[in-house]
Amino acid sequence: MNLAGSLFSSSVGRKILMAVTGVILIGFVIGHLVGNLQIFSDPDHINGYGAFLHRLGPLLWAARIGLLLAAGIHIWAATVLTLENRAARGVGYGVAYTLQATLSSRLMRWTGVVVLAFLLYHLAHFTVGVAQPATYKENLAHYTMGGEYRIAGFPVVKAGAEVLDVYNMVIRGFQNPLVSLFYVVAVGLLSLHLLHGFDSMFQSIGWRSAKWSGCLRRIAIAFCLVYFLANAAIPGAVLLGRLQPHAAAPALTQR
Ligand code: HEM
Repeated sequence: MNLAGSLFSSSVGRKILMAVTGVILIGFVIGHLVGNLQIFSDPDHINGYGAFLHRLGPLLWAARIGLLLAAGIHIWAATVLTLENRAARGVGYGVAYTLQATLSSRLMRWTGVVVLAFLLYHLAHFTVGVAQPATYKENLAHYTMGGEYRIAGFPVVKAGAEVLDVYNMVIRGFQNPLVSLFYVVAVGLLSLHLLHGFDSMFQSIGWRSAKWSGCLRRIAIAFCLVYFLANAAIPGAVLLGRLQPHAAAPALTQR
């Protein structure tokens, strides 16, 4: 059997697939967070960044398809491994180990399901615009860039360009406390999911030796805590009034 075939058909292969797709998904959530944190700067930043992404056209679609594939394989491998573990439960392990493994995998399953539900809501909210249609329509009116947007020193969106108003859409969306609360709870559960994901990944690739496990766990906890706080800071700052919609941009009032 070829390598791809054995990755999908053996349980070790499925664990490797879970770890690799998990790393791809973690890469995305970190990149997405870094992009979103630009909301703490001038509206030109996050709006220029959004315009830059949309202008990537086929490349953006390739990245979206890659992410969807990674998420699909991750969920498929998790489901098959869970069913296999369930079938083998109790064989060859002590009671305490089995109990701990069961609790941890149950947590992974439930946080995974909530993260998936959050993601569907999130796409309906900010990408398709059906969750808060009034906010979405009002704020996806065009915004005129005050200055140019640069990445690594290269100008990628010109001053004066008319772009989508991601800044106001996100802030007005989070002014609804229920929406903000849902985001904070969801990123909290996502952070727990990541924490246990790191544990299983370190276990699968054999890095959880007695010497390293304490250190790796502390790094994983610190990472997940920073990830949670940085995400929660966005709805938090909106609810505390630290982030306010910018005064209607000229193009917003003219249209
Ligand atoms: C406070 C937290 C977050 C904010 C402010 C935020 C903001 C946004 C915005 C504005 C978009 C629309 C981008 C566009 O089409 O222009 C978006 C898309 C997206 N977000 Fe988030 N997001 C947050 C958290 C998350 C988390 C935790 C995840 C992962 C579980 C996530 C996954 C996605 C995905 C997959 C897309 C679709 C990307 C695409 O269509 O290209 N987001 N987000």
